[in-house]
Amino acid sequence: MLEVRDLHAYYGKSHILQGVDLRIGEGEIVSLLGRNGVGRSTTCKAIMGLVPPQGMIAFKGKPIAGLRSDQIAHAGIGYVPEDRQIFPTLTVRQNLELGLKRSGVFGRWTFDDTFRLFPNLGERRDNPAGVLSGGEQQMLTMCRALMGDPDLVIIDEPTEGLAPKLVEQVARLLDEIAHRGVAILLVEQKLTIALKISRRLYVMGHGHIVFEGTPAELSANAAVRKEWLEV
Ligand SMILES: Nc1ncnc2c1ncn2[C@@H]1O[C@H](COP(=O)(O)OP(=O)(O)OP(=O)(O)O)[C@@H](O)[C@H]1O
Ligand SMILES: [Mg+2]
Repeated sequence: MLEVRDLHAYYGKSHILQGVDLRIGEGEIVSLLGRNGVGRSTTCKAIMGLVPPQGMIAFKGKPIAGLRSDQIAHAGIGYVPEDRQIFPTLTVRQNLELGLKRSGVFGRWTFDDTFRLFPNLGERRDNPAGVLSGGEQQMLTMCRALMGDPDLVIIDEPTEGLAPKLVEQVARLLDEIAHRGVAILLVEQKLTIALKISRRLYVMGHGHIVFEGTPAELSANAAVRKEWLEV
């Protein structure tokens, strides 16, 4: 479904991505792990066309490197950036509406799915999104991405800074996304959720992939965890 080969990206003269290779199958949940600053978010942005990618990126068999980010989204990739980007003066429902590809046209996901999964958002559906807590804004950003009915969703650190109860709700949403056959690229720093839900995991070192394997293989590989994940 997604194939990335020898991906490079720069900020000015800094060579951040130095040949990233990864692939995600249809409906597959794949995690991208690594310490702060290794280039996980830059990988997401390069796939989405938000930083200029160099290398091969194909989605559903077609090259997408060089397309605009709205074209990439339209091709079926949803993206939830690490900095939540809600519209504070619009209501919760209006924020969700902005995620639809065409007004009033729903795919796998409806507003009611959001309100069922996240009752807090349901209760505040007609309130300005600016009154939501940081964690709730994060939920809203994820749900808005789903409104566009993506076949792959890239989610950058969805549990960062969340209270344990909200982390549980995010885990439930990830499960539900997977059950509907939508592939996930989950960027995380913590191992817990990633090990539980992923079929495969990649670990990133400085600008490239240093490990690829199943949760069982990563659990068994203390050397990789020690060198690239633990602080
Ligand atoms: N807009 C930018 N301009 C210049 N350098 C940047 C920019 N964004 C990120 N960098 C640098 O690129 C490197 C990779 O950043 P990236 O955001 O991809 O890291 P990350 O793995 O997502 O980690 P974290 O989310 O914990 O910061 C870092 O050294 C960072 O300082
Ligand atoms: Mg990041």
